[in-house]
Amino acid sequence: MCDSWGVIFGRTMAESILIDQALSKAEKYELLLVQIRALIGTDTNQVSVLANCSAALHQGLGHFWTGFYLTQETGLSLGPFQGPVACMRIENGRGVCGTSLAEKRTIIVPDVALFPGHIACSAESKSEIVVPVFNREKDVVAVLDIDSKFEASFDEVDQRYLEQFCSWLGEQIF
Ligand code: SME
Repeated sequence: MCDSWGVIFGRTMAESILIDQALSKAEKYELLLVQIRALIGTDTNQVSVLANCSAALHQGLGHFWTGFYLTQETGLSLGPFQGPVACMRIENGRGVCGTSLAEKRTIIVPDVALFPGHIACSAESKSEIVVPVFNREKDVVAVLDIDSKFEASFDEVDQRYLEQFCSWLGEQIF
């Protein structure tokens, strides 16, 4: 599972995230979250951790866009992500991300065309899941947004594991 970890010039280095695509979705998440925790270790730098988490989730899950928006005074600002360029600011309560921020809950959108106020950063995105990240005071400090090119890509399995991931992330860096 973690056999891509090697020691180069005396320093431990992660080369890649390895996920067998024949596994079930739940099995993939189990392996992926273990690898992400091993990859991040004790690092608490927000940019470094969010950057590598977006890369690991993107590589492991294989969706169209994977990234974070960070809470600012009036809404959300684009954070580390993988995929095509995206909207840089989202107001609180707007779109799927702003609604997740305002309502402090995970939102699964099976068909983005049917979500009122959906913000289309790309016409290729057909479904998405947005999961809030909380700090110790239970404020939403960021949201994780994953977009798919296909309708109905996300379900309660994604929600369960991504909420578990975001709970760990909140404790790790916020
Ligand atoms: N679709 C999101 C905007 C972010 S992009 O998809 C990366 C929304 O409606 O909030």
